Amino acid sequence: MTRGKIAGLFDNPFSPGYGRQPPYLAGRKEERYRIFEQVGATANSEIVSRDVVIYGPRGSGKTSLLRAIEETLSNPGFNVTLELMTATDLKSAEDARRELIGVLGQSLWEALKPSEWGLDWRGMQAKWQRGEISRNEVRKGLVAKCKSSPLILLIDEAHLMAPSACRELLNEILTIRGRGGPAIVVLAGKPQLAELGDIAQVSFLERGEVMSLDLLDEQSAGDAVRIPLECAGIKISNNALVKIVRDTQGYPQFLQLWGSRLWKLASEQRRSELTEADVDCLDDEMRNTREEVYLGRFAAWKTENRELLTVIAKQLLQRGWIGQPALEEMVQEALENQGRDGRECGEILNQMVESDFLWRPKGQAKMLPALPSFVSFVVEQERIKFREREP
Ligand SMILES: Nc1ncnc2c1ncn2[C@@H]1O[C@H](COP(=O)(O)OP(=O)(O)OP(=O)(O)O)[C@@H](O)[C@H]1O
Ligand SMILES: [Mg+2]
Repeated sequence: MTRGKIAGLFDNPFSPGYGRQPPYLAGRKEERYRIFEQVGATANSEIVSRDVVIYGPRGSGKTSLLRAIEETLSNPGFNVTLELMTATDLKSAEDARRELIGVLGQSLWEALKPSEWGLDWRGMQAKWQRGEISRNEVRKGLVAKCKSSPLILLIDEAHLMAPSACRELLNEILTIRGRGGPAIVVLAGKPQLAELGDIAQVSFLERGEVMSLDLLDEQSAGDAVRIPLECAGIKISNNALVKIVRDTQGYPQFLQLWGSRLWKLASEQRRSELTEADVDCLDDEMRNTREEVYLGRFAAWKTENRELLTVIAKQLLQRGWIGQPALEEMVQEALENQGRDGRECGEILNQMVESDFLWRPKGQAKMLPALPSFVSFVVEQERIKFREREP
């Protein structure tokens, strides 16, 4: 056993938990490149033609990606008005307007020649919200502000935005750009975000730079664990990494859990090298942690709907995907077998997406499991149930 050089002297670098920035943002190179094509150009005062939309299941790394953009743009070399916010408060067109003015703030107020209204900017904000100041005048101010400092608005949990707020915000940004003000919105949210565009009639799926976040590829998944360990002075063997990558299926949240647990082991035992045997040793513990997560997700389903979930899970496990028409047919049939109303089908399909059971990545005609091992877990639950019933 080797003594760790620095392991144990620092806090655990890994960050398991939603919304927590990873120590090393693995992969996502193409996504970052495509985002920066638009966002970077805006920061350089160019007028781009596309806003950015990022969607993916829970824990795929949307918040982490937004934070990485924020971090890059926070560099004093960029003269931008930068705001990272969550969409929870964007419930109406008025909310969207208020936020927009709020983000541009005091300097916008100055750009708007306050003497004309005899108000401070908060007063003006309230007036605009109530529609008492002409939009044209406010837009003039917004355009002037964006020209002096380009606006980059990063909105997380964007699937929670009300359609009216989404429409208002994107149309306003489009208008600002149309009048020569560099501005861009980056929306990140769960897969339902892809539908928000249609409901809000802003067709961002056609005119935006849209991307979906899939599970990490093998190389990136290995890097997510290896690089922070190495930075802490801990080496990990290739075979150990291969096992972890296979076990997590490239799910960022589980990679952080593995990294965190391995760092703790190395730190406690003052080791600077980890091998396959260490991974084997932690395997049961990690499986239990994962199953706890899955049990939570499974518990959110009503008992009669769990049966439907199992039917679809079996199909997904066999083929790895399912087409939308086949999915609808299978749910309809299962509802019929249970003597239930076929009209429940739409709601159940929504829940399958909302609960991160399956989703359709960008450019795919098929529905895929959001996390393949959760699908196996669902099928396994039925086997356990039958085994438990046996005398
Ligand atoms: N590219 C990455 N490399 C390594 N770890 C990552 C990466 N992306 C995310 N993570 C880690 O995965 C976990 C989930 O990430 P994050 O919270 O960004 O996901 P999310 O898609 O925003 O989830 P939610 O849908 O719950 O908002 C966090 O622990 C984060 O540190
Ligand atoms: Mg998030």
